[in-house]
Amino acid sequence: MLNVERIRADFPILTEISYMDSAATSLSPEQVLNATNEFERHYRSNVGRGVHRLTNIASQRYWHAHEKVARFIGGEKGTTVLTKNTTEAINTVANGVRWNKGDSVITTVLEHHSNYLPWIDLQKRGVDVSILKTYPDCSLNLEDLQNSINEKTKIVAITHASNVLGNIVPVKEIAAICHDHSAKLLVDGAQSVPHMPVDVNDMGCDYLCFSGHKMLGPTGTGILWMKEADIEPLLLGGGMVGEVGMNNFTFAEGYEKYEAGTPNISGMIGLGRAVEYIENIGMEAIKGCEEKLTKMLLDGLRDIEGVTIYGPQDNYNRIGVVSFNVDGLHPHEVAHILDEGAGIMVRSGKHCCQPLMKHLGLKNGTVRASLYLYNTEKEVELFVDTMKELVRRL
Ligand SMILES: Cc1ncc(COP(=O)(O)O)c(C=O)c1O
Repeated sequence: MLNVERIRADFPILTEISYMDSAATSLSPEQVLNATNEFERHYRSNVGRGVHRLTNIASQRYWHAHEKVARFIGGEKGTTVLTKNTTEAINTVANGVRWNKGDSVITTVLEHHSNYLPWIDLQKRGVDVSILKTYPDCSLNLEDLQNSINEKTKIVAITHASNVLGNIVPVKEIAAICHDHSAKLLVDGAQSVPHMPVDVNDMGCDYLCFSGHKMLGPTGTGILWMKEADIEPLLLGGGMVGEVGMNNFTFAEGYEKYEAGTPNISGMIGLGRAVEYIENIGMEAIKGCEEKLTKMLLDGLRDIEGVTIYGPQDNYNRIGVVSFNVDGLHPHEVAHILDEGAGIMVRSGKHCCQPLMKHLGLKNGTVRASLYLYNTEKEVELFVDTMKELVRRL
């Protein structure tokens, strides 16, 4: 059981608001803010450059952040690259693979634009792109995957959990299908890694991309984990080279090859602290608490006439992301009313998932409430009561 009141005391923003937009970006606790502040105030300097005392501390802590993140996902044996966000991580892979005309990529209609645009754009380079559809209950049709995958398929890029519908995708089964065909599996873990135990070995993925800012870390932090560092780097420049001659150069080993230029040092040190904070609480406990709140939220919304919930209707195999609409209201109107009437922050619109919105026939998108470890039963009750009142007044 989480001691949510104690957890909430760590989050300075949580005084008068209910924050239900963690799928967009989460909040950061004092411990993370202190870690970034400490860097700025006491040992700010660049990393991997020079030998003075401040750069030694900064470099060591920056390097340590990689280790903490790698351990968190069971990825010590792979390469953990710190990026700006999930988007940069996915683009690094999409642009780093050596593509040949006629190669193919498979992605799905469930994807966030960040795991969609980089792949469909490869069509310009002669790469074939297949888009898997979902069943009416929004689960993926794995038979479609079996039918689409072949020896030309280089990458299958799939979200682990939908940022609109909340459903969890069976990535383990998908990994087995990919590897039967020598294709690599890229998992977009932006919505899974912060909310459930994720282990790259168990999943069997080749690349895992996720965002530090969605798991209590600072904004501008993300992660690309690679089983094998087998792609070209996105950027060239300082910090990522071995030897440089007049007309040639060699790459540095490990993550450094993929981190050209001065990185977001304070952000990454903060991310390392965020990982420790989450580990101290425990991913199973976080998942359990979110499941309970999600059930309350779904049960409450289901009882309100004129409310339509999208995605899985029960608490099974899903994360705490709930999308819905109210008959006769634009999603932005609902979001405004929740904020102005009750101080509840939710996301509204298309959630960077326009192909999915088209697939679902939702012109204006949805209202999306997303939960995290700092949300309480009282907040969910307030949410449901406010929604009931909103519908009663229509
Ligand atoms: C499933 C999913 N993938 C990718 C992203 C992109 O994350 P970022 O904006 O951190 O790059 C998001 C953000 O909401 C997401 O939910």
